[in-house]
Amino acid sequence: MVDVIAYGGRRARTGDGPKPPRVRASPKTLRALVDRRRSTAMFEGVAKHGDVVELGGPGFRIWLVSDPALAREVLVDRGRQVTKGFGIRMISIGLGNGILTNEDPVSHKRNRRLINPAFSVTALRKYADVMAGAAVRADERWRVGQEVEITDEMGRIALDVVGRTLLGDETDRDARTVIDSLEVILRRFGIGFIPGATKLLETNFPPAVKIRNAVASMRSTVERVVVDHKQSGRNYDDIVSALLAATEDGEGFTEQQVLDETLTLMLAGFETTANALAWTWWLLDQNADVAAKLRAEIDTVIGDGVPTYDDIARLPYTMATIAETMRLRPPAWILERETTEAFDIGGYPVAAGQTVLMSPWIIHRDPRWWGPDAHSYRPDRWINADGAFDHSAPGQPRGAYFPFGAGSRMCIGEQFAWSEAVLVLATLARRWAPVIVPGQRVRTWAAVTLRPHPGIRMRLEPTARARGG
Ligand code: HEM
Repeated sequence: MVDVIAYGGRRARTGDGPKPPRVRASPKTLRALVDRRRSTAMFEGVAKHGDVVELGGPGFRIWLVSDPALAREVLVDRGRQVTKGFGIRMISIGLGNGILTNEDPVSHKRNRRLINPAFSVTALRKYADVMAGAAVRADERWRVGQEVEITDEMGRIALDVVGRTLLGDETDRDARTVIDSLEVILRRFGIGFIPGATKLLETNFPPAVKIRNAVASMRSTVERVVVDHKQSGRNYDDIVSALLAATEDGEGFTEQQVLDETLTLMLAGFETTANALAWTWWLLDQNADVAAKLRAEIDTVIGDGVPTYDDIARLPYTMATIAETMRLRPPAWILERETTEAFDIGGYPVAAGQTVLMSPWIIHRDPRWWGPDAHSYRPDRWINADGAFDHSAPGQPRGAYFPFGAGSRMCIGEQFAWSEAVLVLATLARRWAPVIVPGQRVRTWAAVTLRPHPGIRMRLEPTARARGG
């Protein structure tokens, strides 16, 4: 969830020793850094120069690491010698000090331990019903032949899920306020790249005022929920209640920290999952064989029922479909780190203060790891000889698939996301086969997450089964 494009990174000496291939950013590259429709292609171009490449331009130098083992080394083995970096520092303006932005290793680790029970299997089992319920509400409002913006529809479902699981039932309006405010902030994210951004944010410069208002609005909304939960003393069976109750050695979170962690989980959990689902519908419509196989599995396992947590393990092909979407359209398409010490990456000495990027987008579609059909949508690659879903995608080197990151900063919501994506897809694909409205050019918008641009208009058609066929 790191946004690194067009950052004003500092210059860093790479020190003595061999230098990685260097690419000078041409005016075209610089345009692609700003134009999010071209960013993925631009980084693919850079990666062609080697597994470790330095991209340099006016006032910035970035290292791009595109080898699975080396990317893993930076994220996992060197986890203590790197911090998150510029993009995350910008996000903390709105989110405060939740675990996504927390750079203090000790409190980060402790806070993760305190949050973890909210993502336990027992908790997920409860949330699973909320997730399937959100999909059932969509199923009930969808009409045959209706044209929808599928990204918005999946966003509505994801919002329903984060709203209810985090803030409790009947919180639609609160969740909407938070997500709308986040959108206001993220749309103006570029302001952070202007030198002196922190000072600028305190001025009456209109975008700065909008950002401040949005931050105030989302923080006060969640603050109200946290205070209400606390004062009532009730357990609402939601994540805010779990965070308020969490303790370690008799000490728990302050209200302020619960607020920061809740906002963080909302931001991190909403758009990523919504985009994974939206891209899945788009890919399914273009891959009829995959869609048929998916529906056959769902018909057999779920039939006319509503899926539960236990069904997830019985839906290997549905899992594989989501896995394959996140391979080709990883919602967190690029991860950023800043070195705090000098070390070597692939034999190249990197100095402290250097920005290093690892891109799931690039590594996930490299034919060296994924074979000649690396660019094809083929969920079968995730199914082993016993017909089970194989998380490691047989034959891939470790680190070739990391949609949820790796190491101590890996996604805390990974299982939540898998559950939501599988349950929503299984619930809706029973009866619906959305069809892309012709005449659209859908591109990737590589912002904080990888969005479909300008969106995906789809017509809601019933499946053969829903038509009674
Ligand atoms: C398809 C859905 C999702 C994807 C692809 C995804 C991806 C990621 C990735 C790649 C990271 C690591 C970022 C880095 O290393 O710089 C991350 C971190 C995180 N994610 Fe997710 N995520 C998803 C869903 C969720 C959900 C549903 C939640 C919570 C409800 C969540 C909460 C978080 C948090 C709190 C972090 C920060 C962890 C830390 O730094 O300790 N994510 N996510």
